Amino acid sequence: MDYTTLGRTGLKVSVAGFGTGGGSRLGMKTGKTTAQSVALIHAALDLGINLIDTAEQYGTEPIVGAALKTVPRDQVVLCTKHHDVWMRERRTPAQVITGLDNSLRTLGTDYVDVFYVHSLRPPNYDYTMSVTVPALLREKEKGKFRFLGFTEAGPPDPEHVMAGRAIADDAIDVLMIAFSMLQQNGRRLVLEESRKRDIAITCMYAVRNIFSFPGRLAEEMKKLAAEGKVPAWLGETDAPLDFLIHPGGAENVIDAAYRYARHEPGVHVTLFGTGDIGHLKANIASLNRPALPESDLAKLAELFGHLVGVGMEYGEQKGG
Ligand SMILES: NC(=O)c1ccc[n+]([C@@H]2O[C@H](COP(=O)([O-])OP(=O)(O)OC[C@H]3O[C@@H](n4cnc5c(N)ncnc54)[C@H](OP(=O)(O)O)[C@@H]3O)[C@@H](O)[C@H]2O)c1
Repeated sequence: MDYTTLGRTGLKVSVAGFGTGGGSRLGMKTGKTTAQSVALIHAALDLGINLIDTAEQYGTEPIVGAALKTVPRDQVVLCTKHHDVWMRERRTPAQVITGLDNSLRTLGTDYVDVFYVHSLRPPNYDYTMSVTVPALLREKEKGKFRFLGFTEAGPPDPEHVMAGRAIADDAIDVLMIAFSMLQQNGRRLVLEESRKRDIAITCMYAVRNIFSFPGRLAEEMKKLAAEGKVPAWLGETDAPLDFLIHPGGAENVIDAAYRYARHEPGVHVTLFGTGDIGHLKANIASLNRPALPESDLAKLAELFGHLVGVGMEYGEQKGG
């Protein structure tokens, strides 16, 4: 496993981060038992992953807590999150802090390494900054978490408006953004500046639904080609990104997608979620392979560099 320093937090982290949300939720959504999900976390740790991402909303904190009972606390970089606005309703700082306290209890720890405000949408940014953040920083002083972060909302904020503001305000130490082969604008809109300030970046959406649902990529390319947003040939094949698969290149499209995100300058940790041990092993292998060849990166930039918000939808079995 390759390790890196998580930006200015100074934490040593694996380049692969185990996400316990998304569509898989450690296999919860496909009927895995708690024991199976706990075993999956232990397998991830045995394979060298040391960063685990969870959230109150995912319902996976109890599983993470159960798994970590037998793991020395300082061997894991534990990240969780809470919304301060949920279904358009603002939560008071007291409610968010109660949520943080509940998370600590459920996770069986007295601190988390990163506490994120979850899915912070641009219209809520001022509320978060003026009301939630000052209250949270007092909890940080008490030692309940080590570093504050925000996560993007994904589909409602495909141009990274929230992230741009958070960086300009130097509001956080860790930022989770959506970045992928089909959603590259974070390079210009987030990473240029976050790198200057050494703000830690965790990457979501590298694969998500578009690369993992059979047929989804071809369907999306047909639509984009019909709209004139990508060259016509991409809409005329069932395997539009297979040009990435060749000796010296990617083994498959998912391998390409993880390697693409992992090697992007400024991305520290690439998150993936899975309920499947085979996928866990394959993704760790991908995230430890070299960057894609320069010629493939250039082609991806040329074909998709202008797209905004592609492959970021919520929903279905593998969304959320
Ligand atoms: N706003 C936020 O805060 C936010 C939003 C989204 C995500 N996240 C975090 O980021 C993590 C990653 O989420 P994501 O949005 O990037 O999506 P994701 O959940 O990682 O999406 C990947 C999907 O592809 C499947 N998959 C994984 N590896 C595969 C492989 N090798 N071959 C075929 N299918 C594979 C997984 O299902 P299987 O179970 O079948 O493997 C999974 O459902 C989440 O778990 C969560 O921790 C945070």
